[in-house]
Amino acid sequence: MTTIGIPKEIHPGEKRVAATPQTVLKLKKLGFDVVIESHAGHGINTIDSEYREAGATVIEDTKELWAASDVIMKVRPPEENKELGFHEADLLNEGATLVGFIWPAQNKEMLDRMAKRKATVFAMDCVPRITRAQKMDTLSAMANIAGYRAIIEAANHFPRFFTGQITAAGKIDPAKVLIIGAGVAGLSAIGAAKGLGAIVRAFDPRSATKDQVASMGAEFLELDVKEEGEAKGGYAKQMSDDFLKAEMALFAAQAMQVDIIVTTALIPGKPAPKLITQGMVESMKPGSVIVDLAAEQGGNCVLTEPGTVVKHKGVSIIGYTDLPSRMASMSSQLYGACIVALLTDLAKAPVAEAGGVASESSDAELHINLEDEVVRGAIVLHEGKMMWPPPAVAVTAAPPPEPGVPTKSSASVAVAKAASKGHGHGESNGINPWVLAVAGVVLFGIGFLVPSEVKAAGGDTLSHLTVFILACFVGFQVVWSVKPALHTPLMSVTNAISGIILVGGMLQLIGTDLSVTTILGAIAVLVAAINIAGGFLVTNRMLAMFRK
Ligand code: NAI
Repeated sequence: MTTIGIPKEIHPGEKRVAATPQTVLKLKKLGFDVVIESHAGHGINTIDSEYREAGATVIEDTKELWAASDVIMKVRPPEENKELGFHEADLLNEGATLVGFIWPAQNKEMLDRMAKRKATVFAMDCVPRITRAQKMDTLSAMANIAGYRAIIEAANHFPRFFTGQITAAGKIDPAKVLIIGAGVAGLSAIGAAKGLGAIVRAFDPRSATKDQVASMGAEFLELDVKEEGEAKGGYAKQMSDDFLKAEMALFAAQAMQVDIIVTTALIPGKPAPKLITQGMVESMKPGSVIVDLAAEQGGNCVLTEPGTVVKHKGVSIIGYTDLPSRMASMSSQLYGACIVALLTDLAKAPVAEAGGVASESSDAELHINLEDEVVRGAIVLHEGKMMWPPPAVAVTAAPPPEPGVPTKSSASVAVAKAASKGHGHGESNGINPWVLAVAGVVLFGIGFLVPSEVKAAGGDTLSHLTVFILACFVGFQVVWSVKPALHTPLMSVTNAISGIILVGGMLQLIGTDLSVTTILGAIAVLVAAINIAGGFLVTNRMLAMFRK
């Protein structure tokens, strides 16, 4: 049986842990044996007995825990344990697997150590951000928490209410909050600030964020300079100097008006752009707060000091780099759930081995399928062999990159495998749509020419086949021409439209006696009606998210 080990995190100040009792239960259900280091749940107020109740074995000694584990689940990358005088990477069993945040670009030396141990390493920060892998997207899960917590930290340092009030003692204006960068953390910060009653404004160079900001109830600030901030692959691109100058002029004007600025601006793999100058800080009202989420990557504000709060002329500048750890039980739960999702996929026996059907085993083992784009993206070492960076694959948030366009290396080095793997407009998924179209037209023609006697003897099948092939062609074109980001609403509306089958069902009901056909017709009418109502309901809900 495969044993999963969860060590206590040793990074100073880190409160998270890679598993909670709830996620341990899920691991046990998958068929893994779970061992956890004593007091690993200290930072999330969870005692050893709670892990025991969930089915884990608690081990006191750190080295013993690592030695007992085939798979280690961690939050932070392995590091030197100064207190006990060893490096975590050296404790990993030879040939064992490690899953956690790795940041391979910054941790080459640690990876070399693990390679010597023939380790297999999955980096949660490298899971590609494609639709199928959303349930494993630890970066978004943590950024969501960081955005929320940024507002809570700001409120803690801000000497006033967020919400406006009219009291007997006088009127209190609502706080004004500016969010720079409307990615996952930025949108979460908007939600939290709105929830506290502030007036919220936001800016992002990606035009796609305009509707998202508006749907959260904030005002989207715009620039006269027209430059799209979204690169191929859906990620932000580095902006031109002219754009940066123009946005900084906007921020300079805003700094004089707003009370709180939360900056989250970042291009994956690049140092954070410096957007808030000392002059802007000094122009803010005393008591104002800046929360710089990009502190770890150098900060968006020139005065930010990573990991701490500095006060400059009455303005607090918060540079905490451990915001998810400040809400440790929630972030551990979400982080642990993302790892369970990854291990669930890995524990599924390959289809061939399971007799044609993918299955979960009661005695789970990891099956590493390097053909799977999620596995290929996340794996950085395979049995000691360096696998990072992975070949590019297409993120679903945007159309696939054109061949030859360099993709960015980042958490999820996005990806251009599309061109070669089949996301590329029908080129390589085995069926060329034009072949389908030509075949459809030919069959349609034949259908016309076939004499009626022949039709009676089976020609109907031919015309049905013709309609079927033409329908495939049209359906293929419709889906392939729509932006992948719109596939979910498209699916719900096509689901509703496919309820046209209702008409067929009704025709079967007209003027015939009770027979198998009419019973099937009645069932078709019922099911299609549910499909239509449900499809439109879901579409309507999704569209409501974008209505003001
Ligand atoms: P994201 O990539 O989803 O969002 C970053 C946003 O910045 C994008 O929307 C991008 O368009 C925007 N941006 C890029 N250049 C810009 C510019 N010149 N001006 C204005 N906006 C610009 O990233 P996510 O996941 O929302 O994370 C945001 C930041 O929060 C990152 O720096 C991340 O490292 C940090 N973070 C910090 C934590 C902490 O504890 N301090 C914890 C988790 C994340």
